Amino acid sequence: MIKVPLIKLNDGNSIPQVGLGLWQITDEKKFSKAFNAAIEAGYRHFDTAQAYHNEAYLGRAIKQSKISRQEIFITTKIAVQNFGDKKSRKSFEQSLKNLDISYVDLLLLHFPVPVLRKKTWLTVEELKTQGLTKSIGVSNFTPRHLLSMEEYAKELPSINQVEMHVFLQQSKLREYCSKKGIVVEAYSPLAHAKAMDNQVIKQLSDKYNKSYAQIMLRWALQQEVVIIPKSVNPDRIKENIDIFNFKLSNVEIDLLKKQDKNLRTCWNPELVP
Ligand SMILES: NC(=O)c1ccc[n+]([C@@H]2O[C@H](COP(=O)([O-])OP(=O)(O)OC[C@H]3O[C@@H](n4cnc5c(N)ncnc54)[C@H](OP(=O)(O)O)[C@@H]3O)[C@@H](O)[C@H]2O)c1
Repeated sequence: MIKVPLIKLNDGNSIPQVGLGLWQITDEKKFSKAFNAAIEAGYRHFDTAQAYHNEAYLGRAIKQSKISRQEIFITTKIAVQNFGDKKSRKSFEQSLKNLDISYVDLLLLHFPVPVLRKKTWLTVEELKTQGLTKSIGVSNFTPRHLLSMEEYAKELPSINQVEMHVFLQQSKLREYCSKKGIVVEAYSPLAHAKAMDNQVIKQLSDKYNKSYAQIMLRWALQQEVVIIPKSVNPDRIKENIDIFNFKLSNVEIDLLKKQDKNLRTCWNPELVP
């Protein structure tokens, strides 16, 4: 079983550097199979969201695994339609019921919803004070959205979960977050499997005898971000965490830097006011 390093957050808590992404896993049998394969491989961090409609699957899978709550890191996210003070609180109470737990490890605002994101952030801060979530953060926030938070936030987010991979390296955003002590969490670290034909990655895959996906994930690890690759395939789940026994050289990292092509496979929050 692979032991995943922890990354320290600005609030004193820590997050396992690799987690299993759970978006688009809507069949409970597939979910349980993926969860069990992940636990066996060493994953202890799971990334769900209200919008994924699988919080209850995660809750049941954790109970069945008999692994103690303290050993597992759970993230959920307030869905766009649940923004607002009362609505976000109520929806989060429902998330805890779905998950059948008394707290989550990380609660994120899923998207920088205009106007309502301020009230929602203040609510999420209260939920943290009440011990219902250990850490709080945001997702899909650009430096502009983060900067405007400084006018109203009592505390800055611990995490900003954004699309990031070799083909969307997010250098400016990462530089900004690093200055503010915000850890970047890379979603779609495999570019949603939409760009699996890059020659440089193929060459590195041959050199290290690692898969194309493992080279992409290793690149992200060496950027010191958290990664949450998704798979429902037990072999790929194992493969995606087996990335701690080789290291890309500085020259190779420089070569991969040149592969950035601003490829977005999800949404683009840059235009959100
Ligand atoms: N906050 C947000 O707005 C946001 C947005 C998007 C994603 N996320 C989070 O980030 C997680 C990961 O992102 P993602 O699901 O978009 O994409 P991803 O992890 O980049 O890629 C997932 C795709 O790659 C395939 N795959 C997985 N491992 C592979 C491997 N070793 N070799 C070849 N193909 C492989 C998967 O298929 P199989 O399942 O068949 O293996 C799936 O089609 C999500 O599940 C979610 O938790 C958050």
